[in-house]
Amino acid sequence: MSLMDAARAVRENAYAPYSKFKVGAAVRTASGNVYTGCNVENVAYPEGTCAEAGAIAAMIAAGEREIVEAAVIAGSPSPVPPCGGCRQKLAEFATGHVQITLATTGGETRTVSVAELLPGAFDAGHMPDS
Ligand code: THU
Repeated sequence: MSLMDAARAVRENAYAPYSKFKVGAAVRTASGNVYTGCNVENVAYPEGTCAEAGAIAAMIAAGEREIVEAAVIAGSPSPVPPCGGCRQKLAEFATGHVQITLATTGGETRTVSVAELLPGAFDAGHMPDS
């Protein structure tokens, strides 16, 4: 199964009763394993979590740390880029060269790098004394 197929499959489980906007995400790690996540909304709107955050949480729970590829899919008219918070979350576990494929359920795709999504990222190098 391709990484995008994994993202497409988990999107079916998304819990998005408020926005009606279902999103699926999948990350492949350096070991070759794939972790998936979907958005999970909440009646207290800010408590909702994005698909990317879910996939990353599953990866961390499994003891992994290094994303080498990611895929995100949504039922949007054009490939929807990850939100600002998810860009920062992806950058925590992926180098700037890592490719993220964004897709619509209609079949349109666009591939961007982590560095393109988050130029000038805040990283640990900005905290030399910590
Ligand atoms: N959402 C994601 O899960 N990932 C994205 O990259 C964009 C937005 C979710 C959050 C919320 O549940 C819904 O899409 C509408 O913003």
